[in-house]
Amino acid sequence: MTLLANIDTERGAKLRSILADLLPDQQVALADEAYDPTDIRHLLTWKIPDNLAQMTALKTVFSVGAGVDQFTGIRLPDGAKLVRLVAPGLVAMMREYVTMAVLGLHRDLPAYIAQRQAQVWKMASVPPPASARRVGVMGLGELGKGALAALQPFGFPLAGWARSPHKIDGVECFHGAAMLDDFLARTDILVCLLPLTPQTEGILNASLFAKLPHGAALVQAGRGRHLNQPDLVAALETGQISAAVLDVTDPEPLPQDHPFWGDPRIILTPHIACITQVETLAPAIAANLSRDAQGQPMLGEVAPERGY
Ligand code: GLV
Repeated sequence: MTLLANIDTERGAKLRSILADLLPDQQVALADEAYDPTDIRHLLTWKIPDNLAQMTALKTVFSVGAGVDQFTGIRLPDGAKLVRLVAPGLVAMMREYVTMAVLGLHRDLPAYIAQRQAQVWKMASVPPPASARRVGVMGLGELGKGALAALQPFGFPLAGWARSPHKIDGVECFHGAAMLDDFLARTDILVCLLPLTPQTEGILNASLFAKLPHGAALVQAGRGRHLNQPDLVAALETGQISAAVLDVTDPEPLPQDHPFWGDPRIILTPHIACITQVETLAPAIAANLSRDAQGQPMLGEVAPERGY
């Protein structure tokens, strides 16, 4: 029945103490302690550890983050489930990040950061009212829906696009390949919160950028491999894309001579949109272990055929 917390010792110890309150019967082992791999039933980890094959009783792999693309191609023991982290604390962080990025792009923040560097005091543009700046979010999972809800009070016309149909109050919802072009044509600030799958890898490319209105802006808080980087550089050069806020890249960090570092039209953050804190993680894991013990589906269970 043991849960192995394959995270750093400090966070692991904190997790163990929170779980001791929430689920007193749950045994928790930390990766740098002696433990019997055949006793591990649940594994909490970001990456698959080397001794996975020895965990013959493994039933659940809990991702430490919202994403599970790092497990692609890994064969889990038969019947073992992979579970994304679904937690209010993560959604809250993404709401903040997307709001910051969309408002920053709406109000010319990349230009003002560059101007300050050059000691220039000048209006970059008169921004349109929010009601004339159309924001579109790709990916309508917990994070995408949370981001849209956070943007609602500002008055931006909002749309969302996902693989399958959704219905969200106050949001024009598009789905599937057939509706992608219409979604892009009405989107001035595009936010990518898609899961990374073979279908979405490289989706932010020249052909997609060309379908946005000229001068559209990009917020990329999905995964680095969604973005074709040379295509973004080219779209910034022609002005098809005016500016971008990027939290994820491929690789992370970017090499020192990468053009993104020095481009004044790009705001780059080091994959910090959602930071998993133990206070967020522990209650989510405890709730899912309880659900599982009662035979209920866990929140965030990955459907293997979808990949998220
Ligand atoms: C971070 O990127 C996560 O998957 O939570």
